[in-house]
Amino acid sequence: MENRRLVMIPGPTPVVRSIQAQMGRDTVAFGDPAFVKDFRNTLDSLKDLFGKCEEVFVIAGTGTLGMEAAVANTTKAGDNILIVSNGFFGDRFIDICERKGLHVDILQAEWGLAVTPEEIDKKLSEKHYAAVTVTHVDTATGTCAPAAEIGKVLAKYPDTMYILDGVCATGGIEENLETMNIDILFTGSQKAFGVAPGLTMLWASKAAMERRKSLGTIPEYYCDFEKWLPVMHDTSKYFATPAVNMVWALQESVRIIREEGIDARYARHIKNGRAMQTAFEALGFKVLADRSCRAVTLSNVIYPDGVNDAQFRAILAEEGVMVGGGLGPYAGKMFRMGHMGNIDIHDMVSAIAAVERAMFRSGMKVELGKGVGALMAELLK
Ligand SMILES: Cc1ncc(COP(=O)(O)O)c(C=O)c1O
Repeated sequence: MENRRLVMIPGPTPVVRSIQAQMGRDTVAFGDPAFVKDFRNTLDSLKDLFGKCEEVFVIAGTGTLGMEAAVANTTKAGDNILIVSNGFFGDRFIDICERKGLHVDILQAEWGLAVTPEEIDKKLSEKHYAAVTVTHVDTATGTCAPAAEIGKVLAKYPDTMYILDGVCATGGIEENLETMNIDILFTGSQKAFGVAPGLTMLWASKAAMERRKSLGTIPEYYCDFEKWLPVMHDTSKYFATPAVNMVWALQESVRIIREEGIDARYARHIKNGRAMQTAFEALGFKVLADRSCRAVTLSNVIYPDGVNDAQFRAILAEEGVMVGGGLGPYAGKMFRMGHMGNIDIHDMVSAIAAVERAMFRSGMKVELGKGVGALMAELLK
C-alpha cells in the first residue's frame, strides 16, 4: 500500500480540510451578493492583521506578482533602489528592478547569513533611494532578515519605501506595518496562510499609497494599485476576475488565524521551528542558516558527506514526505522542509520519522528514534 503524501515543501504547505472545502464549493458569479459580502469580509479581516495599514489588496497571482507590484507602484525608471538579498529570492528583485530601468545597488549576504541593519544604514546614508527591498525569509537559504531592526533604520529615511517580501514569513513570523515602518508587505496564499497557490495578498502604508499617486500613470497594468483600489473599496466592482473559490479559502484561513490568535501563531512557529531544527541536528544534518538569523518557517538542511540527494528525496517521497531540493550552490547538497502554516504535531513527528526511515534505507548512519525523540523533547518543554 502506498503511504499518504505529506507535502512538507516550503510552500505550498498542507491545506486543511475546512480550507479545501471552500475551494471545492460551487463557483458563483463574482457579482453574487453573497460573494461580494465574503470578499468584503476577507479584506476587512486581513486589513489590520499586521498593524494598521492604509490599503490591503487581494489579487489572483503568486508571490512574484507581489514583488512586481511593490516595485511597480513605488518607483519609476531612473530611480535608485537598494536590494538587500540573503539568497535566491532576494536576487529575484534584481531582474525585476533592472527590467524596469531602475538603478540597482545590491547588498548581498553570503548564503546562510543576513545583511545587517548597519550595512543598510551605511548604504542609505550615501545616496537617496526611492525604495529598499528586503526578503524577510529567503526560502533558498532559510535565513531570516532582522525586519524590525531594518525598520528602525528606515525610519531615518522617510522618503525611502520599505518593501518587505513576506512570502515565506507572513502569518508565521511577526511583522507589523506600523511598528516596523513597513510601506509594502506582501505574501502568497500558499505559505504560512495554508491556502493552495493562487492569491497575492499585499498591504500598503499611507506613504506607499501617496507614492503611487505621485507617479501618475505607470507602465504596468495588471498590478497597478489604482486599477485595483476601486475593487478593494467596493467588492461588487470589476477590474479583473476575482479568484472566487480562492477568496473563500482565504476567508477560512484568516478565520483560523484569528481563532488561534496571531501572537499564539507566531509563538507556535518559533517552538515548532526550533524543535524541527533540533531534530535535524540530532540526526547529523547541518542547518544552513546561522543561528543568529535562522528562520522558523522552514529548515534548509545540508546532508552529511556522501549522500545522493535525488535518491534520498525519492526514498523520502516513498516514505510519504515531499521536501524541496537545494537551490543555487546548494543544489544536490541540501533539502528544504517547510514547517509553516497549519501543520500540527502529527505532521512534524511523521515528517521526522520518515526522514529517519529514508536515512536508514539509503544506508546512512542513523539511530532510529533519535530525531523523533529530540523533536518531542523540545515540543514538550
Ligand atoms: C521569499 C520568496 N519570495 C518570493 C517567492 C516567489 O513566490 P511565487 O513562487 O509564489 O511566485 C518565493 C517563492 O517561494 C519566496 O519564497
